[in-house]
Amino acid sequence: MTPSPRVLTAEAAQVGADLDGWLRAGGGQGLARAIAAPDRIIPILEEAGLRGLGGAGFPTHRKWRAVAGQPPLAGQGKWIICNGNEDEPGTFKDRYLLSNTPHQVIEGALIGALAVGANQIALYVNPGEPVSLRVVREAVQAWQGHPLLAAVGQAMGAPLQLHVTPGSGLYVGGEETAAVASVMGGFPFPSLKPPFPAEQGVHGAPTLVNNIETFAHVPHILRHGAAWYQALGRGAAAGTKLYSLSGDVMRPGLHELPMGTSLRELIFQHGGGMLAGRAFKAVFTGGPSNTLLTAGDLDVALDFDSVRERGSRLGTGAMIVVGEGTSVLRKTAEYVAFFANNSCGQCSSCKIGTRQISRILERIDGGAGRRTDLQALENLARLLPGSGRCGLVDGAATVLASSLSTFRQEYERALDA
Ligand code: NAI
Repeated sequence: MTPSPRVLTAEAAQVGADLDGWLRAGGGQGLARAIAAPDRIIPILEEAGLRGLGGAGFPTHRKWRAVAGQPPLAGQGKWIICNGNEDEPGTFKDRYLLSNTPHQVIEGALIGALAVGANQIALYVNPGEPVSLRVVREAVQAWQGHPLLAAVGQAMGAPLQLHVTPGSGLYVGGEETAAVASVMGGFPFPSLKPPFPAEQGVHGAPTLVNNIETFAHVPHILRHGAAWYQALGRGAAAGTKLYSLSGDVMRPGLHELPMGTSLRELIFQHGGGMLAGRAFKAVFTGGPSNTLLTAGDLDVALDFDSVRERGSRLGTGAMIVVGEGTSVLRKTAEYVAFFANNSCGQCSSCKIGTRQISRILERIDGGAGRRTDLQALENLARLLPGSGRCGLVDGAATVLASSLSTFRQEYERALDA
C-alpha cells in the first residue's frame, strides 16, 4: 500500500483537550510564526494552495483577504466561525477532529484572527455530537488564561474572545449564512448572497466562516511552510484530505491521504476493496448531493478540480460506495428524503420540490410507480436547480438527475415489477 502522510490524524496530535500535549506535539509553533509576522499569514496560505474543505474548495487566501480588507464594525469588530455543524450523510471528518484533536482547529482560528483582525471566535458545533461538544469546551477552557492566548491578544492590541456555540441540530445550519444566523441566536435560515459573510456576518460584522478541517491545516502550514504543504498533494493538488469512506467497502472509515489520491486507490487499497467481492457500481460523492461517479471514473484524482472535470464535485470528501446488489434507486430515495426532511421551508420550491421528488421515488421503489413518474422526475430535476436561497434543493435535484440518467434501468425495472 502506498504510504500516506498523516498530518491532521498524526498519532502525536490526538491529545483530546490536553493543551500541553498539543504543544509537546509541535502545536503553538505555527501560531508563534503567525504572531511574529501576521502580514505573512495570508500570502503563505496562498502559496500553499489551501482551499476550503467544507465542500466548495474556495481558495482560503481569497476569503481571508476579503475579511481582512473590511473595516471592523463599531461595537462588534470582526468574527470568526469555525463551522463544525457537519451533518451530511456519509461525512464524519469534523466530529473526528473536534473530538480527538481540537487544538489544531483552535490554533488555526487564532492564526485566522491575527490574519483578518477578528476579536471574536465562535466554535460552532453540531449538538448531536456530545463528545465533540464536551472536548471542545474543555479545549477552549485550556486556552483561557494560557500565555499563548494572551500573546495573540497582545499582538492584536485587544483581547480575543473564544465562544463555544452549539448549533441548532439542523442540517441546514451548516450553510454559512444559516450558521451566522444561528450564532446570533436565531433559527438557521439561509439568506441570499451577496452580501457574503466576509462583508456582513454575525451582527452585521465582517465574518470569516471556514470549515473545521480548513482551520486544522493552518497551524501545520505556518509551522512547516507552503512548499511542504504543496508537496503533500498529488499532481497539481496541495496538502492532504480527510476522505470519509463508507458503503459497500471492506474498511469504511476516515482516511487521511494526499489530496488527489485516485478513487481506485481509496477504495481498493485503503478501503480494502469491495465488500464480499461485489462488483463496484457507483459512488455518491461529497455528501450525496452531486453527480455519481461510476466505474469509468475510478481513476479520477480526488481533488476539487479533477472531480469537477468529470462533471461532479469532491464536496466534503465523503465517498459512499455502492456495489452490485445495492440499489442506487433506494439510496437516492433515502438521500432525497434526507434533503426533504431538512429543508428549512423558507423557499417553496425547495420545501415542495424535495418532498415531491421524495414521494415519487418512494412510490417507484415501493413498486407502485407509474410510467409518467419518470417524466415528472426529469421535469423536477430540470426546474428546481437554482430556485432556493441555498444549495439544498440543487443537491437533491442533482443526485436525482444523475441517478435517473445513469441507472435508469433500475427505475425501469421497478416500474415493470
Ligand atoms: P459557495 O460556492 O457559495 O461559496 C464558497 C465560499 O466562498 C463561501 O464561504 C462564500 O462565502 C465564499 N465566497 C464566494 N465568493 C466570495 C467573495 N466574492 N468574497 C468572499 N467570499 C466569497 O459554496 P457554499 O454554498 O458555501 O458551500 C457549498 C458546499 O458545501 C458544497 O460543495 C457542499 O458539498 C458543502 N456542504 C457541506 C456540508 C457539510 O455538512 N459539511 C453540508 C452541505 C453542503
